[in-house]
Amino acid sequence: MVSNMTRELRIAMIGYGFMGKAHSNAYRQVGQFFSTAHRPVLQVLCGREEAKAQEFAKNWGYKFVTTNWREAIARDDVDAVDICTPNNTHAEIAIAAAKAGKMVLCEKPLSMDVAEGERMVRAIESAKVANTVWYNYRRIPAVTLAKQLIGEGRLGRIFHFRAQFLQDWTISADVPQGGAGLWRLDARAAGSGVTGDLLAHCIDTAQWLNGPISRVVARTETFIKERLHTQTGKLEPVGIDDACEFICDFSNGSLGNFESTRYARGHKAKYFFEINGEHASIAWDLHDLNRLEYFDHRDQGLVRGWKSVHITDGDHPYMKQWWVPGLSIGYEHSFIHHVADFLKSLESATSTPPTFRDAHETGKVCAAVLASAASGQWESTGANSIA
Ligand SMILES: NC(=O)c1ccc[n+]([C@@H]2O[C@H](COP(=O)([O-])OP(=O)(O)OC[C@H]3O[C@@H](n4cnc5c(N)ncnc54)[C@H](O)[C@@H]3O)[C@@H](O)[C@H]2O)c1
Repeated sequence: MVSNMTRELRIAMIGYGFMGKAHSNAYRQVGQFFSTAHRPVLQVLCGREEAKAQEFAKNWGYKFVTTNWREAIARDDVDAVDICTPNNTHAEIAIAAAKAGKMVLCEKPLSMDVAEGERMVRAIESAKVANTVWYNYRRIPAVTLAKQLIGEGRLGRIFHFRAQFLQDWTISADVPQGGAGLWRLDARAAGSGVTGDLLAHCIDTAQWLNGPISRVVARTETFIKERLHTQTGKLEPVGIDDACEFICDFSNGSLGNFESTRYARGHKAKYFFEINGEHASIAWDLHDLNRLEYFDHRDQGLVRGWKSVHITDGDHPYMKQWWVPGLSIGYEHSFIHHVADFLKSLESATSTPPTFRDAHETGKVCAAVLASAASGQWESTGANSIA
């Protein structure tokens, strides 16, 4: 699909772990399936360990390697910086990239806290550079279809939004904290536990589908209080939330109910949500991501019931670009769709939602959840409060 008129979008990828791989795959595939005026070029890979970075760069086709992200940002042959590093590094890299006039694609959660998020929004908006945050679940076609059905008014007034994100990988007290792959258990690198890591996804989807969350009341628990730290070699207190539950009010008058834990034995990545409206309900489950469950009370009584819509028809969001009806796509396609939308947005000089500003709204809800768990009180999210 690459035409002679295609312009290059030269990417500096910072980090080569899980997301570095998911994004690199998306950049490589997007042009084969989506027609866009820009074509991503894997220009520079930045990682702290030279040998591993070289190996990754060779495998995925990056032209250059550096172990210093500042060097990657300073290059004239880089147009966009993609931040795939742990949460405590996002702000410094994103602000420096924006100041250097680069577009920024940043992994979620945007920031460690509200103050940092505000600085990031201000930096990106004053630099006027294209930006997006990788809340990729919006672009799973069944989830995008849910947005379309709600937008068409099919559900009518919405009463309930419930979501869960369940895992079981930290149940053992022997899992250490800190360092490669395990930075998620170290509050200094992650900011929070399941709230920023998993519930942030649920909150982004929820606010996108159902509007702002205005207030929350939450409880969190840290089941294992001390873990060996891989970097200090010592047993250290665990500062993250292992589990979090909260209820909330949405500004549209509906009620929300959210739960996340890494202690739900048997669940690896059980992201589920359900929305109940006046006329219809919608449900979606990441474990069966090509299906959207839909119940419409207005159907004739004889055949009324939950429909399981297999979203593989050409009519379904993004699916015309893929295979023939009936054939499934996967998790990785959400990133390809995100890149496709990002490239399209460059043609109209707009940013791709969720922007830094949108992701900051999610960050504010996460902060209110953690504040409520500490205070035991309802906390306002301060939705849409920065000028
Ligand atoms: N959108 C999603 O669904 C999703 C899924 C997983 C992770 N994430 C987010 O992506 C980010 C990265 O997570 P991951 O799972 O890929 O982590 P990871 O541990 O697999 O990889 C992190 C990478 O960052 C590198 N790194 C760390 N500090 C660095 C520095 N100062 N300079 C250069 N490189 C540095 C590490 O060497 C590693 O290559 C996190 O913010 C995480 O929350 C998002």
